[in-house]
Order: sequence, then structure tokens, then C-alpha cells
Amino acid sequence: MTTHVTPPQRRKFLFIILGGVGAAFTALAVWPVWRYLLPREKTGEDAKIPIAKADIPLGKAHFFSFRGQPAVVLQPAPGQFVAFSAVCTHLGCIIQWQPGKGECLCPCHAGRFGTDGQVLGGPPPKPLDSLPATVEGDQVLVG
Ligand code: FES
Repeated sequence: MTTHVTPPQRRKFLFIILGGVGAAFTALAVWPVWRYLLPREKTGEDAKIPIAKADIPLGKAHFFSFRGQPAVVLQPAPGQFVAFSAVCTHLGCIIQWQPGKGECLCPCHAGRFGTDGQVLGGPPPKPLDSLPATVEGDQVLVG
């Protein structure tokens, strides 16, 4: 027994297949635009980084990774916390904390930065990039 497909049935079948393929391509084209327009979730790269206050003693520095870049948080005065990018603004070396001097030093060309991120000396053309830091309970939230 053979079944015959009539031309209207064949046409209807082709419309369904072409409609499905068209819908799939439309979804593929619209999806990236939709994702771009949606508000970003705060659970990924935009999330604030919590650092225990106990890890940032007075006059000391705590280095950490902030959105894939080195960063540092300091407590220059009791209860005052400041955070900066640890990337030198001269040629991008990573700064170090000088506890005896209370300042940051770039080991590459001796750039010096104060606890406010300002340039104290050397070739860096501008201050360290400041990062928002807020105290919440026993933590400092950076970001
Ligand atoms: S890279 Fe820091 S002073 Fe040159």
C-alpha cells in the first residue's frame, strides 16, 4: 500500500518546516540583543568583593583580585578603609605595600603612591584607580 501526498499537504508540510527554521534563525538573531538589553545580574563580575576587616589591620594592606585585576585595600586610619587598583598607572606593574613607610611602591620604576592613591613620586602620570569601599558589619565591601 502506497500513500500519496497531495500537493496541498506537501505545501503545508513545507510551510511548517520553513516556519520552524525561520523561527529558529530569528531566535538566534534576537537572543544576543535580548541578553545585552537585560539588566546585568550582580552575582558575577559586578558583585562586591567582601573582605573581612580582620584581614586589613591598621596601617597594613590586603591585596586581592577585583574583577580579574589586582587590587589593594588599606586601613590608613582606624575604621577608615580605602581600596585601589594595584596596577601602576605608569606602565602597569603591580604595586607593593611599604609598611614601614605607609605608602605603596611600584617596583618597576620606583613610582610611589600615598594611602589616598595619589602619586608621591616617580613617573606615574596619575593616581591609582580608586575602588568604592564600604563597611558593612565585619566586612569591607569593595565594588
Ligand atoms: S610601571 Fe610603575 S613606575 Fe613604571
